Amino acid sequence: MKHIPPSRKVSYSRTTITELMVPSNANFGGKIHGGHILSMIDKVAYACASKHAGTYCVTLSVDTVNFFEPIEVGELVSFHASVNYVGNTSLNIGIKVVAENFHEGIVRHTNTCYVTMVAIGKDGKPQQVPVLELENEEDERRFLKSMIRMEQKRERLKEYEELKETLVWEEELHKLDNQRCILPEDI
Ligand SMILES: CC(C)(COP(=O)(O)OP(=O)(O)OC[C@H]1O[C@@H](n2cnc3c(N)ncnc32)[C@H](O)[C@@H]1OP(=O)(O)O)[C@@H](O)C(=O)NCCC(=O)NCCS
Repeated sequence: MKHIPPSRKVSYSRTTITELMVPSNANFGGKIHGGHILSMIDKVAYACASKHAGTYCVTLSVDTVNFFEPIEVGELVSFHASVNYVGNTSLNIGIKVVAENFHEGIVRHTNTCYVTMVAIGKDGKPQQVPVLELENEEDERRFLKSMIRMEQKRERLKEYEELKETLVWEEELHKLDNQRCILPEDI
């Protein structure tokens, strides 16, 4: 049976996938399809998480991904992934997306996002992952930032669920007054 060590360095699983954006990756506006970028993000997160865990992993969640700048056909896009945080069976992977126009020598950091993966054992159940060996201050900072983000996400979700339980929707309807919508009774 394959031996999985009790701990692994961040550098052990750091992964980069680079792909040239071709016309078949483009949407109707001629820019690269957001879905293609998301698929590449999921792929590199899987490779990085599985390498650290030494086992198959599944995607639990992808945090908000913003596309503030389009990626063009002909650009060389690199997806840099590293394990930022590990829980017991989960791993938080940070992905930095960089697009390079090598004709004009322009390199753009287009976005950063975070993917949570869970390691799955041969029995199909979540499996414990090796402890993360933080090698420098940057690794420490990323681990801490990841903990804070996850804590904030849990609190936001809890607050939203509590709010949903207490809201009387009829009393909130006046908030639609200045919105760009037409109420059913006015159609
Ligand atoms: C990921 C999955 C295996 C977790 O199953 P589960 O029964 O919740 O397992 P557990 O309760 O043991 O949780 C496993 C880990 O996920 C974390 N987790 C589970 N649900 C979570 C949630 N809603 N929010 C944050 N973390 C969560 C747990 O905290 C735990 O992490 P830890 O061990 O580091 O503390 C299950 O949700 C699943 O199979 N999801 C589908 C995955 C998939 O198909 N992805 C592709 C989507 S197309």
